[in-house]
Amino acid sequence: MNSAPSSVRSILSLDGQEIQFHDGETIYQVARRARREVPTLCYDERLEAFGACRLCVVEVEGMRTPVASCTTKAAPGMKVRTTSPSIEKHRRTLLELVVSENRQVEVNPLRGYASQELTTLADRYRARNGRFQGKQSGRSHRQDDNPFILRDYDLCISCYRCVRVCAEQEGDYAISVRNRGFATQITTEFDHKLKDSACTFCGQCVQTCPTGALADKKAMRAADAPGEIRKTRTICPYCGVGCSVDLMTKGDRLVGVQPAMDGPANQGALCIKGQFAFDFVQHEDRLKHPLIRQPDGTFKEASWEEALDVAAEGFRQVLRKQGRRAVYGIASGRAPHEAAYTMQKFIRAGFGTHYIDNCSRA
Ligand code: SF4
Ligand code: SF4
Ligand code: FES
Repeated sequence: MNSAPSSVRSILSLDGQEIQFHDGETIYQVARRARREVPTLCYDERLEAFGACRLCVVEVEGMRTPVASCTTKAAPGMKVRTTSPSIEKHRRTLLELVVSENRQVEVNPLRGYASQELTTLADRYRARNGRFQGKQSGRSHRQDDNPFILRDYDLCISCYRCVRVCAEQEGDYAISVRNRGFATQITTEFDHKLKDSACTFCGQCVQTCPTGALADKKAMRAADAPGEIRKTRTICPYCGVGCSVDLMTKGDRLVGVQPAMDGPANQGALCIKGQFAFDFVQHEDRLKHPLIRQPDGTFKEASWEEALDVAAEGFRQVLRKQGRRAVYGIASGRAPHEAAYTMQKFIRAGFGTHYIDNCSRA
């Protein structure tokens, strides 16, 4: 992760404007704070800057060639230009080289959080696909036998964000890089399937991939479903960490989950459950009405009034016979937060005990 800047402040010139910066900040961090739109592809602010794509180049007075702003520290008195005709031409040419390697540039946004980054930049710079003819790098593992992650390396641009997020954020080191140049390949140990590697299926590599080369297989089931993708911010209910997520819906269907990069507790990280375990919401076996157990053991559909009356009478009987400490509430991590709150209130206020728990407490 990029180190936190110190409190020491100096001044540099950015496109002719004097800007204060903290000791330790990079030119890119200063430029972004000053609302300059410096393009990036291999950059993820949660990770150590890598300096691979060179799209973030800027001109610094006194330096012979443009420098990568994401890896160059700001220095007092520096004179930086974030844009000029030659810088913009340089960026466009770089982008044209990048897109020439890929089978496609336009990808479905359901592939992942950052999957539109290359498309957006190619549009912004009107980078032509096909200006440079030649080899393609990466070899797809689209048949990789796992239910969560599509590995479509024909779209890989070797930014290594996936490898770095797996190592730096997840601490997992499940994927790595093999070979160089056009033969570069993101791979697992011994090139085995992802499910046979150390991968925990946290999905972070999917969400940071800027081209959609890594894609969310579950979300992609809804790729052809009608309707716009809508995102609704909420908190994952599965455990006590409190990760922020964006639920993706099309119409009234939940089609996927993306981590919130600005979530205070998770900063873009999730575990396999928060990322992929949402099918229960619309599962065909899900109960949609209360059921009351009959004397012969079968269940009969009932109204909420009937069901609540039966439940209340059951609790009354337990209270009368065994006392209030005979009741213990266990709430489900698959229930909404409001239901969890109501459940603890029911036990604490209703029975006067703290005999309440939730699987999310783990
Ligand atoms: S798979 Fe995606 S994140 Fe990984 S190196 Fe390729 S383009 Fe970058
Ligand atoms: S899903 Fe998580 S653990 Fe698996 S390769 Fe991607 S970042 Fe690493
Ligand atoms: S974003 Fe700086 S080199 Fe890629």
